[in-house]
Amino acid sequence: MMRLQPVLNNLLQRKTPQEFIEDGTNSGLKKTLNVFDLIVLGIGAVVGTGIFTIIGSAIAGTSEGAGAGSAIVISMILAAIASVFSALSYSEIAAMIPVAGSAYTYTYATMGEFMAWMVGWILMLEYAISNITVASAWTGYFVQFMKGFQHILPSWIVNCPLWLRNDYRTIYEMSGKYGWNVYDKMPFIHLPLGIDIPVAINIPAIAIVLILTILLIKGVKESTKVAAIMVGVNMFIILSFIVAGAFYVKPENWTPFAPNGFEGILTGAFVIFFAYIGFDAISTAAEETKNPQRDLPIAIMGTLFICTVLYILAALVLTGVVPLNAIDTQAPLAHAMRFIGQDWFAGLISVGALCALTSVLLIYQLGATRILFAMSRDGFLPKSLNKIHPKFKTPHILTWIAGIIVMICALFMDLNTSAELCNFGVFTSFIIICIAVLILRKTEPDRKRPFKVPFCPWFPILGILTSLGLMYCKFGHKSTSALYFGVWLLIGLAIYAGYSYKAKRAEE
Ligand code: ALA
Repeated sequence: MMRLQPVLNNLLQRKTPQEFIEDGTNSGLKKTLNVFDLIVLGIGAVVGTGIFTIIGSAIAGTSEGAGAGSAIVISMILAAIASVFSALSYSEIAAMIPVAGSAYTYTYATMGEFMAWMVGWILMLEYAISNITVASAWTGYFVQFMKGFQHILPSWIVNCPLWLRNDYRTIYEMSGKYGWNVYDKMPFIHLPLGIDIPVAINIPAIAIVLILTILLIKGVKESTKVAAIMVGVNMFIILSFIVAGAFYVKPENWTPFAPNGFEGILTGAFVIFFAYIGFDAISTAAEETKNPQRDLPIAIMGTLFICTVLYILAALVLTGVVPLNAIDTQAPLAHAMRFIGQDWFAGLISVGALCALTSVLLIYQLGATRILFAMSRDGFLPKSLNKIHPKFKTPHILTWIAGIIVMICALFMDLNTSAELCNFGVFTSFIIICIAVLILRKTEPDRKRPFKVPFCPWFPILGILTSLGLMYCKFGHKSTSALYFGVWLLIGLAIYAGYSYKAKRAEE
């Protein structure tokens, strides 16, 4: 009979913070990033699909959940509160263990091998699955942008068929909504026994992920330079939306303030949480930061503050300009400008959205690679994967793997489901980070903490409770994404049992 105690010891085996720091020092990654680069990285990762696309569904609702209406500002504050508690916890640990891998690393140092693997696996939801959402939204704005050139470009480019710019699930959904026959909208491969496989390839989404993957292989510093330009453009555009739109606000549009009551506010908070995801991407670049102990906490909190203020102002303007029943769910900010007759401004917003979404994609691909890098260094994945490119000094094989995963998944996942699935992953990692702070305060009380969560243990506990509460709202509604989340956890468990556990033992 298999003895349980040794297995349990293996599952709980920890790597000490000191071991992580030593690994990080010898990783071969270039240390080039400063606090400005990190805030650019943070804003670039945070501002994107949430404020440009998902805000529409959070206000108006979807077939799987009620909308918040104008009370979206309350939802945003709730989502920001859940994020702040966890951001503080991230800051404490990131400054204490400044190495690649983010929540994955911190879990390894506190809860042992098994939980670390599961957290790394869950983080793939945040970094890879979320990029399916972002890449799909990118296509939406790209198509809008191209329509501006309909008199210059050939019609087959401007009006390219639906099945070359969408996943099949989206086409099925649109067909249901508009009463189309799906067989007219995309080709099918006919197999025996009457099985028909739909063919739909989101070419713009795949192309942008491919281009960014190549850019990332060329080097982090170069990539953050591109991100800085993108962040500058999209900040300018959101600020212009707020300032210009403010003149058209009609306060009567804010009533009824919360058409679906508290339920709408909570569901809105779960959905709009996607807009806040990303600040933790900063901590995944810790090994490439010149002065991580000081710069990581400043960058994380600074990013969150800037984004929260921007979102609340943008939401107030959006719901003040457009009546609730006219809020658009594909491109709500651009639509708001068209609503008040400013078509040229709507075009400008599409450009801003493309910039924002591009920088989110770039930074998330970077984050996914760095987490995979840490996991293969620790033996959960084959070590041969984390080779550093001799010239560019980047983990090129893992960068390709992360890119290919997104390109393949973009073939069959749609925007809303992937966003919600990602939210489940992030809430779970937030909860674990808050628990990790509490554990490390006990197990490593004397380790130097350049940044400490104030009011500990209350702030980490509040972080756990707010995240659990928002997740519960969605689980309560038995949504598709909640089901997928369960399946994702089971797959992670199977990979650990089938490969990683044995690979780790072979290493010992
Ligand atoms: N916060 C990021 C976005 O909204 C993920 O696109």
